[in-house]
Amino acid sequence: MSSVRRAQTLSALREQFDAVLEPGPHGYYAGGSGDEVTLAANERAWSEYSIHPSVMVDVSRRDPSVELLGRRMPHPLICAPFAYHRLAWPDGECATALGCGQANATYCLSTLATSRPAEVATAAPGTHRWFQIYVFKDRAVTDDLVAEAVDNGFEALVLTVDLPVLGKRERDIQNNFTIGDAELVPGVAAAGGKGLISMQDTADLIDPSLTWKDVERFAAQSPLPVIVKGILRPDDARKAIASGARGVVVSNHGGRQLDCVPATARVLPSIAEEVNSEVALIVDGGIRRGTDVLIALALGADAVMVGRPILWGLAAEGATGVETAFEILIDEFDRALALSGCPAAADLSEHDHLVTPAKRSAL
Ligand SMILES: Cc1cc2nc3c(=O)[nH]c(=O)nc-3n(C[C@H](O)[C@H](O)[C@H](O)COP(=O)(O)O)c2cc1C
Repeated sequence: MSSVRRAQTLSALREQFDAVLEPGPHGYYAGGSGDEVTLAANERAWSEYSIHPSVMVDVSRRDPSVELLGRRMPHPLICAPFAYHRLAWPDGECATALGCGQANATYCLSTLATSRPAEVATAAPGTHRWFQIYVFKDRAVTDDLVAEAVDNGFEALVLTVDLPVLGKRERDIQNNFTIGDAELVPGVAAAGGKGLISMQDTADLIDPSLTWKDVERFAAQSPLPVIVKGILRPDDARKAIASGARGVVVSNHGGRQLDCVPATARVLPSIAEEVNSEVALIVDGGIRRGTDVLIALALGADAVMVGRPILWGLAAEGATGVETAFEILIDEFDRALALSGCPAAADLSEHDHLVTPAKRSAL
């Protein structure tokens, strides 16, 4: 057993992350776009709901499990896709995937990963894996990456639709932040990236001309379920479903793309109403507490993606830190299930008036 006491709170992991990273990667991971209005709104918005607990309910047995895409998951937490893990930890995505497996969380590998799908599958064969797609202008590169993911046991494709061009990220501009040599990022090197690259150079390789027709084609050809990530409007959720998506992720990219869009917690209820359980509904953005997870499920989400807290854990302690970040959230979620008097995660959205808006901010 390790003699090092594990972090008990996400804020402790965040302090470690703040302490170990250089300003360039730190700004890239922590920052958002524009004035970071949406970045701040995402975290705040979950606390703008109130939970109305029922008491004197037998909560001696809790069931945090949920069903998603035909699979029962032991809890509703998924690791959001994010780029360039080797900037935070030497084994990069392989360490993240291992930590996810230790916490029974599904891991979503980014197209902009610093490890190939096959490497991640070998490093963490027991971890449930999804693959996130940015469509490069050179479509053959995307097709190859998808084929490698399919061949290596990935279970779903997550098509990110909110990055036709890059949001203006001023921390990166101020830090003159570069990721390193293009060879570090296999997808980017294959798509034509050369030499020292910035996030802007990478984004320039992505195709900004995609439309719902492409989603339709993609879903029709994919051997795996396709999930569309980056939905903020009910009508777009409907278009995703009509295009063949088996799931949608309500997401504003963690406040990193268009600034001044609403917090995901705020748009989730209207999108849940439109989706009406026809496909899997996932939400991300500002999930930092077990109570945030409970509120998301009560508002109609089937599962949540966790973003930056996983990076805090990865930068602090590699795979162990990733596992710790999930365990903190799972423990808090378990307490929230007990204390709300609704011990089964799958019943949260049916519980009468469990969650109501408390107050509203501008976004
Ligand atoms: C450093 C960083 C890199 C990201 N890279 C990607 C990516 O490659 N693909 C993607 O779909 N989303 C990416 N995202 C967005 C996340 O998947 C997720 O939507 C967001 O982080 C959720 O918000 P949260 O960090 O507040 O939890 C990235 C986010 C961060 C913070």
